[in-house]
Amino acid sequence: MAEAHQHIAALLSEERVFEPPPDFVAGALVKDRSIYERAEADYQAFWAKQAERLAWFRRWESVMDWQPPWVKWFVGGTLNASFNCLDRHVEAGGGDKVAYHWEGEPGEQRTITYKELLDEVSRFANALKALGVGRGDRVAIYLGMVPELPVAMLACARIGAPHSVVFGGFSSDSLRDRINDAEAKVLVTQDGGYRRGALVPLKANADEALAECPSIQHVVTVRRAGNEHAFTAGRDHWYHELIEEQIPDCPPEEMDAEDPLYILYTSGTTGKPKGIVHTTGGYMTAVTATHRLIFDIHDDDVYWCAADIGWVTGHSYIVYGPLANHTTSVMYEGAPDWPDKDRLWSIAERNRATILYTAPTAIRAFMRWGPEHPEKHDLSSLRLLGTVGEPINPEAWVWYWKYIGGGRCPIVDTWWQTETGCILITPLPGVIPLKPGSATLPFPGIQADVVDEEGNSVPLGGGGYLVLKRPWPAIARTIWGDPDRYVQTYFSKYGPDIYVAGDGAKRDEDGYFWLLGRIDDVMNVAGHRLSTYEIESALVDNPKVAEAAVVSRPDDVVGEAIVAFVTLKSGYEGDESVAAELREHVAKKIGKIARPHALIFTNDLPKTRSGKIMRRLLRDVARGRPLGDVTTLANAEVVEQIHDMVQTGARTEE
Ligand code: PRX
Repeated sequence: MAEAHQHIAALLSEERVFEPPPDFVAGALVKDRSIYERAEADYQAFWAKQAERLAWFRRWESVMDWQPPWVKWFVGGTLNASFNCLDRHVEAGGGDKVAYHWEGEPGEQRTITYKELLDEVSRFANALKALGVGRGDRVAIYLGMVPELPVAMLACARIGAPHSVVFGGFSSDSLRDRINDAEAKVLVTQDGGYRRGALVPLKANADEALAECPSIQHVVTVRRAGNEHAFTAGRDHWYHELIEEQIPDCPPEEMDAEDPLYILYTSGTTGKPKGIVHTTGGYMTAVTATHRLIFDIHDDDVYWCAADIGWVTGHSYIVYGPLANHTTSVMYEGAPDWPDKDRLWSIAERNRATILYTAPTAIRAFMRWGPEHPEKHDLSSLRLLGTVGEPINPEAWVWYWKYIGGGRCPIVDTWWQTETGCILITPLPGVIPLKPGSATLPFPGIQADVVDEEGNSVPLGGGGYLVLKRPWPAIARTIWGDPDRYVQTYFSKYGPDIYVAGDGAKRDEDGYFWLLGRIDDVMNVAGHRLSTYEIESALVDNPKVAEAAVVSRPDDVVGEAIVAFVTLKSGYEGDESVAAELREHVAKKIGKIARPHALIFTNDLPKTRSGKIMRRLLRDVARGRPLGDVTTLANAEVVEQIHDMVQTGARTEE
């Protein structure tokens, strides 16, 4: 924990407290702390009240049924997520309100109203039905940030078919594994997407994956870039042709509150990604409530969550939460520095964005690029900022507050996970004084704690494991096809009624939570969750590699950089060209985001006598720290060798 303590010492050296600005409080939805007291007095009643903001076909019989670790929310209730995001707003006369101001990377703009979105979702839902998709069938979606992505998700929700969105930056191998795990029947993809001016050949990637996906019966391709790709007659269809044939009317399926809404894969500590399953009633209730209260959503807001829908942030806070709240959102297809480093600020200015939600890794990049880029634009419409995905260093927090928020916007630092479905630790911006670097306090109704190895609550001021001690409606209900892994991963350390988040945390004297990063072999690279084991498996998959160990080291921009120690099979020489080949191999197996930043070729890896690779020592080496205890090693001399190699620069960096 020495490292954690240093980290905390650094965080706590930023002692400024930012009170909610009075003019923000004046217009805020939540102005005082009574909401915390009410929720604490009866958390089930609190969530039931939030659920009442949705439209239910049938009201629930009981709010919660908890047989630890299994929980059900709004038992007996029925509803439809797409109806809640679309129909009810249109029926109430809100069909002309803009749902998305979309902008393509090359510069096109599209404005989509709630009525237009409902029409297209209904047509595509009918098209899916015509392809044989019904309740409970899984649909894989491999799209970039195009409007057809929320359309496809909502169309699935409309007919009760759980979607599995695969981030467009993932490789064909990653796509294949996810399709096969979920046994998806249909894949929705696009010809090509744009990223930094280059074309990402999504359909070609998908075709490669589909060679080994027996469950897929149909492929629907959205025409975006107009690039060439193969077309398999009978299996492949154009999105625009399918929707043209359908009427814009498709009655929503009446789903049980506990029916799965979607599966989303995330990295765990093994090589196999986990299919996190979210339900309909509880998930919709929690994302709608958290979105509204944390982002202080008013009718005239222009809200922009600049994440990718391929991650949970986009599912909850670009699609389901904002649409259920009848919010106008901004959605952007491409890179923040294309064609220039002020792209986001020009989009924010043109759309008069009022709320911006992004990741610390992006903020650190903006910081490096310099304040002259935001300063070129009028960002005075902004009134609230948010961050998610990793701990934010106080320096980046203050930069964001000053240069993007003009010193007037509160910042909500929101802690949550794919598994939690919704934000759990966060300020409410009209109520909670902010400390840069702290996600502050649990959302009303959430019981978070910091415990020691034995599960005892650590007194304020101390650090330990972050746990959640009572259920909330959006908690993942299981891992697709692997309930044992669900129990093992989240509910085994301290018993079935305590959810272990896998993060370290510390609370200060005011009870504020300071997140310390993962305590397992999961890394957080540029806000993306990757497992060391997954990258090691990808490296070892290359025929030249004998063995690999992957660790991370802190990085000013991406948060954690990937460092790979690789031992090659005899006969191979570790040089630049092999390094380039291995990086490419990892990109192919997982995706470009997983490419090692530094590669170090070693003759051997430090191992315990039982043959376990000592990652702790490699982490010290990667971080240039003095070496710890090596006495338990079977091959102590190898650490010295590696240490010397790193010191003398015998590594390749990207
Ligand atoms: O380590 C925590 C970090 O991101 C992990 C969850 O990653 P993922 O499931 O990909 O979801 C990311 C978006 C919700 C957590 O275990 N994390 C997320 N938000 C924060 C954070 N760490 C510190 N502060 C945050 N605000």
